[in-house]
Amino acid sequence: MSSDIQLTLFDDTNSNPRDLIPTNAKIPIAPGTYNNITELAQDCNQCHRCGLGDNRTHAVVGRGHLQAPIMLIGEAPGQNEDETGLPFVGRSGQLLEKILASVNLTTEQDIYIANINKCRPPKNRAPNPDEMAACIPYLLEQIRLVDPKIILLTGATAVKGITGDKRGITKIRGQWLEWEGRLCMAIFHPSYLLRNPSKEVGKPKWLMWQDIQAVRTKLDELTIN
Ligand code: URA
Repeated sequence: MSSDIQLTLFDDTNSNPRDLIPTNAKIPIAPGTYNNITELAQDCNQCHRCGLGDNRTHAVVGRGHLQAPIMLIGEAPGQNEDETGLPFVGRSGQLLEKILASVNLTTEQDIYIANINKCRPPKNRAPNPDEMAACIPYLLEQIRLVDPKIILLTGATAVKGITGDKRGITKIRGQWLEWEGRLCMAIFHPSYLLRNPSKEVGKPKWLMWQDIQAVRTKLDELTIN
């Protein structure tokens, strides 16, 4: 920790220890910083580690079962998510719920949903590398706290943010990979499926159907054994 950051310890206007919480990008977010998602969410809602914090209505932290066996990671909130503070509640979220329901996966029992970035980028652009780097430490804390058996990375931004893999999603979707000892699979982003509605064999929606069935099978294997 640099000495100017350490000196904030002596700041008598800041007597609350939570003022040392790293909502400033100069201060790293060490693993183990948070005891629970509520604490983390409080910080995300005060965060200015990147410029996206300046325009948010709500930080969008996550929704679903806090001990879910599957964590699904998207890109960043859109308008509906910024307004409600909940991830994937707009059109792509509705499609996502249908995809999950097709194999009996629910956010009540099986899934926790989060994003690479907690704040909405202007005009729904993809977050840039600095914005991603500023926010990913919160996500790593969420992964540690939820401790999922399986991580689903929806879309290229989620794949890049977690694994660093820059290959296109069509190349890597549907394959199991290991990251930090956890099983992960890249899947199409639901907004891509909204733009590609054909259900013909080999098309993105059909491929998603193969992938989500493989996820269901893997979860069953992991929970039976
Ligand atoms: N797209 C995402 O990647 N995340 C959301 O929360 C909503 C749309």
